[in-house]
Amino acid sequence: MLATDMAILCFLHDLFGRELADAVTAALPGEDIRWWPDRGRPEDITHALIWRPRPGLWDGLSHLRLVCGTGAGVDHFVLDPSFPRAAKLVRQIDAGFAARMADYVLTWVLFHHRDSAHYLAAQSAGSWQPRAMRDTSATTVGVLGLGQMGGLAADRLAALGFRTLGWVQRPQTRAGVEVLVGLDGLQQLAREADILVNLLPLTPETRGILSADLFCRLKPGAILINVGRGPHLVEADLIPALDQGWLGAAVLDVFETEPLPAGHRFWADPRISITPHVSSSASAATVAGHFADAVRRERAGEPLLGLVDFARGY
Ligand code: GLV
Repeated sequence: MLATDMAILCFLHDLFGRELADAVTAALPGEDIRWWPDRGRPEDITHALIWRPRPGLWDGLSHLRLVCGTGAGVDHFVLDPSFPRAAKLVRQIDAGFAARMADYVLTWVLFHHRDSAHYLAAQSAGSWQPRAMRDTSATTVGVLGLGQMGGLAADRLAALGFRTLGWVQRPQTRAGVEVLVGLDGLQQLAREADILVNLLPLTPETRGILSADLFCRLKPGAILINVGRGPHLVEADLIPALDQGWLGAAVLDVFETEPLPAGHRFWADPRISITPHVSSSASAATVAGHFADAVRRERAGEPLLGLVDFARGY
C-alpha cells in the first residue's frame, strides 16, 4: 500500500554500511523513506527503524505509530524518558540472530575451557607448557537470562556436554539446562559456575548485577563473559575482582560508554578480552524484512512480532 501521508524514518547502525539501507529500500518499494538526520516534516513520520535514538530524534514525531529496533535489546528505547510512548515498539526476533550470539558464546567458552589464553601467552614467550585437559562435563557454565539469546546459547552449551545452569526471572523447563530462579538461584549459580555468561536484558533490576557483590561469591578464578549490556557491569568492580582472583579473566563485548574510550584501563589489561559490540546482529536482509513485515502488520491491525512490553522492560 502506498500511503502518501505516511513517511518512514530510518537511523541505521554503521556496522551494516549501505547494505541495510539498500535492503530497507528494496523491502518497502514506493514508500517515502527519510534518512536521519533528514527527517523532513516530522509530523509525516508514522513508522521508524532505529538503531539507537540520538538526541532530538523523537522531537515533533506526533504521528509516530511504530518503532522497530534494529537489535534484540531495547533498553535504549524503554529507558529513554523522551521515547514517544503512544508508539508501539518491536525488537528483532530471529533464529539466525540468536545462532550468531550462540556462536560468540561458544567461541569464548571453548577458548577458556581449552586454556587458549595460556597457550597464546606461552607461544609469545616461546615456551612449551602443556596443561591437563578436562572434559566439557567438568566445566560448569552459568548463563544469566534464557530468552531468545541466552536460551539458544544454553542449549548449545548443553549439547556440547557442558554442565549448564540458567538463571531466569520466571521458572521454565529446558532440556539439559538446570534452571535456577531468585536470589538463591543466582547465588547457587555463582558458587558453581566456572564460566559466567550474561545475556540478560538491561532493566532497572538487572543494571549493575555484575558487581563485586556477585564476583566475591564466584568460584575463584571464574571467567566472566558479558554480552548483555555495558551497564550490567559495574566497571569499577572488574579490575579489583581480577586482582582479588575472584575472576580469572573477562570477555567484554559491551561497555558503559561505546566506543570504549581510548586510554580506558580495560584496553591494556591482558586478562580482559575486548570485542567492539559485535557478538551478534541480525543480517541486513532479516532486519529489513522484519521491519517491512511490521509496517504491513501495523497498518493492517495485525499482531506484531517481537512487540515490547514496557512494563516488563523488554
Ligand atoms: C545489540 O546490541 C542488540 O541489542 O541486538
